[in-house]
Amino acid sequence: MGQSERHSSPALPSASTLPETGWSVDHTLEQLEALRVNDVRWKEGRAFSLAYLVSPEVHDLATEAYRRFSGENALNVEAFPSLRSMANDVLAIVGTWLGAPASARGFLTSGGTESILMAMKAARDQFRHDDIRRITSPNVVLPTSAHAAFHKAAAYFDIQLRSVPVCSQTWRADAVAMDAAADENTIMFVASAPQYPQGVVDPVADIAAAAMQRGINCHVDACMGGVTLPYLAELGVPLPAWNFAVEGVTSMSVDLHKFGYTAKGASVVMYRSAALRSHQGFVTDNWLGGFYGSSGVLGTKSGGPIAAAWAVLHHLGHDGYRRAANTARDTAVEIARAIQADPRLMLRAHPDATLLSFGAATTIDSRAGSAPPIDIFAVADGLAARGWYVDRQTPPPSIHLTVNAVHAGTYRRFLQDLAGVLDQVGSESGNAGAYGTLE
Ligand SMILES: Cc1ncc(COP(=O)(O)O)c(C=O)c1O
Repeated sequence: MGQSERHSSPALPSASTLPETGWSVDHTLEQLEALRVNDVRWKEGRAFSLAYLVSPEVHDLATEAYRRFSGENALNVEAFPSLRSMANDVLAIVGTWLGAPASARGFLTSGGTESILMAMKAARDQFRHDDIRRITSPNVVLPTSAHAAFHKAAAYFDIQLRSVPVCSQTWRADAVAMDAAADENTIMFVASAPQYPQGVVDPVADIAAAAMQRGINCHVDACMGGVTLPYLAELGVPLPAWNFAVEGVTSMSVDLHKFGYTAKGASVVMYRSAALRSHQGFVTDNWLGGFYGSSGVLGTKSGGPIAAAWAVLHHLGHDGYRRAANTARDTAVEIARAIQADPRLMLRAHPDATLLSFGAATTIDSRAGSAPPIDIFAVADGLAARGWYVDRQTPPPSIHLTVNAVHAGTYRRFLQDLAGVLDQVGSESGNAGAYGTLE
């Protein structure tokens, strides 16, 4: 399964589990713990998707900060100035990572998807209300590698998407083809830093330049890279320009609940100008409850994720994030090397940051003799049987790894298990002993 919530609709349990007399706290917590028996062991570095950990101490801090503010409601920060102050601090920190100009303004959201939804809505409303253009049938041009959240936004906000194939060799967005796909109703180009499927950073400068030429927006989705790329650049990792330092980038998304290592429910959407940001919010007084305004999709908004983000950012500091980025990057590069060294596998792209994917080698390598390509999803099954959780993606059939700091302690074991699974899958398809092991 890739990044997906299953849409099955199981029947409701035949009886309500609500007890007549409520359970004790201890019993309730015991029952709660029992429910997680089959969950992936992400705190042990077994999940290459969905969960992130830099250390148990940081996770505990996030949990404690969350607990202290879980009941506070950021729907109205007049009532909770603490949340406004925390949110402003977080936005200022993220702004420095993004090279945001003084004119930039942002909002905290519940996650990457909400950040992207809001950037799409802001662009739609900006052009809908533009005095000269008044675009009422807008389209957005994006590479096929852009996250599914853009498709969700397009469906929610009635925006046409023009999905342009990525460059076949590099998996990066094709700026020229994107420009060719645009017309007078195009309101925005999308780039990613890095994109999720193969982990490469798009040519943001070229895409933003094309957007500027047309007088339209350019959104850079840095949900995965917004926290790590600034530190990787500082450490000398060669990276193309990817943030607001590129003229023409008008909005960006950055997730704190990924490589910010904070609690789930924290992301930032940042705009180059207050004017663009003003198209994000929603207000009405056309009901019996008086004036209502909210910045994003949510109404009531727990203070938990905001407090956790504020706490973790200040606890880790530049130094903590630098180390975490370096650790995740080194681990991703080690894994990429091992995959490249195995003739049965094909690394999709050398990771620009900390994400990578790989599939079965399709060309016959002399070391592999005449073995047929392996079934990469059988490999994913074998890894799952050994307690590893990896994402599966198509096209082409691939295993995806989101490598974060926790994997520094587990990747050698993962590579050993991967080698074992490859031998097993190979022997089941009649190629026993054709290959060596990885380590
Ligand atoms: C590049 C990118 N953008 C956006 C998202 C969506 O983030 P979320 O799952 O927090 O909504 C993801 C999720 O993995 C992502 O990889």
